[in-house]
Amino acid sequence: MADYVLAIDQGTTSSRAIIFDHSGRIVSTGQLEHDQIFPQAGWVEHNPEQIWNNVREVVGLALTRANLSHDDIAAVGITNQRETTVVWDKTTGKPVYNAIVWQDTRTQAIADRLAGDEGPEKYKSIVGLPLATYFSGPKIAWILENVEGAREAAERGDLLFGNTDTWVLWNMTGGTEGGVHVTDVTNASRTMLMDLDTLSWREDIAADMGVPLSMLPEIRSSSEIYGHGRAKGMVPGVPIAGILGDQQAATFGQACFEVGTAKNTYGTGNFMLLNTGTEKVASENGLLTTVCYKVGDAPAVYALEGAIAVTGSLVQWLRDNLGLFDDAPDVEYYASKVDDNGGAYFVPAFSGLFAPYWRPDARGALVGLTRYVNRNHVARAALESVAFQTREVMDAMRADSGVDLTELKVDGGMVANNLLMQFQADQVGVDVVRPEVAETTALGAAYAAGIAVGFWQGEQDVRDNWVEGQRWTPSMPQDERERLYREWKKAVTKTFDWVD
Ligand code: G3P
Repeated sequence: MADYVLAIDQGTTSSRAIIFDHSGRIVSTGQLEHDQIFPQAGWVEHNPEQIWNNVREVVGLALTRANLSHDDIAAVGITNQRETTVVWDKTTGKPVYNAIVWQDTRTQAIADRLAGDEGPEKYKSIVGLPLATYFSGPKIAWILENVEGAREAAERGDLLFGNTDTWVLWNMTGGTEGGVHVTDVTNASRTMLMDLDTLSWREDIAADMGVPLSMLPEIRSSSEIYGHGRAKGMVPGVPIAGILGDQQAATFGQACFEVGTAKNTYGTGNFMLLNTGTEKVASENGLLTTVCYKVGDAPAVYALEGAIAVTGSLVQWLRDNLGLFDDAPDVEYYASKVDDNGGAYFVPAFSGLFAPYWRPDARGALVGLTRYVNRNHVARAALESVAFQTREVMDAMRADSGVDLTELKVDGGMVANNLLMQFQADQVGVDVVRPEVAETTALGAAYAAGIAVGFWQGEQDVRDNWVEGQRWTPSMPQDERERLYREWKKAVTKTFDWVD
């Protein structure tokens, strides 16, 4: 058998291809960023064709850099930014509109209309999610309502919907010449259109949103063979055998297989997922109920999720929109030039506030300013906001599940930031631990694919490969920790009621 598994991580800011060996170590990587398109305030789009071209290129880069060919690849796994919505014409293969990104808030009016008198929790007991701009269903509705000719084409059965997992898979497996139109349960659980119990599309909710069922991909498990790379493609004949939304993939890659285990990923946003086993748990505290993974025919495993919209993207914003520094990692350098935040708190409610508040009316605020505050304090306040938001989510998880985490498993780009990780440990009051391979998102997708083709035997292989990389232990005095958190909470209230 071939010696490697390839993972494609189609993320919010970039697409990556990572080749892993049997011990779960990285052999090579290819990565390309794509354009972030902001047509107006609150709107965020991607160009799906650019994304697909980048995916092809990064797979080529990863193979070339490792001096490997497709024959060396046992299986391909796909992981992706969730909720981001692509609608395309199945006869031309062309998207009818740009991808509407998960952070985009244009669907607030649609969400309000759907909520009607019953309020935003109308579908929550079925789909696990509140009506919010975040999820795919209302984004599909927006495209059908606003793109000329889209509704008619959809009703004729000419249009297909997918999150970027489905878009990439369809293109990889043949596109207009027999592309496979499939998604997995984790991605489907982010659309607001899937019943969490039956794991199938809800005709009534789709009808409420005006979405024809013919547009929706077939829902499959997260670990099975969906199709093979097209003959003229980048991995001809190789089985594509794993799909997991990126946060679920990280949970899988972090080996959170027991009930009560959790991970927190620091990406564009932050996402903490707690494995609740084969029983779904309804949240009373602003968390989402979602599918964590489903391996082949085994029952689905559920999770409680705390989704925070803006963490890493706040650092990018300081870099790109304010020009505070040239490279994102420099934020740590500036933040460490001061001993504290100088009284400043930055609440990055750029897409409203997600967990645990779900306040679409909130907008970002930098508060507590005096003339004393300088660039370093702002950098520090930005990093601290990541840790405060994470603590809020962890508190909600404890309240919903009764699980008291004894340590916090972390991954993602920002775990390289020591100042943040130490402050995170200080805020949550338990050790923060990262694995040696912090690329757990791609790794999780690789495991899902590798397990489906017998490259790995199952979850025990994933556990065996998990090796601790670094640990941060809380050291801040209790009263200081609580004072900062109290002030943060006060800062959050200043962002409310900003938009109607
Ligand atoms: O739900 C959105 C999430 O999947 C995006 O993840 O890694 O781009 O922050 P990331």
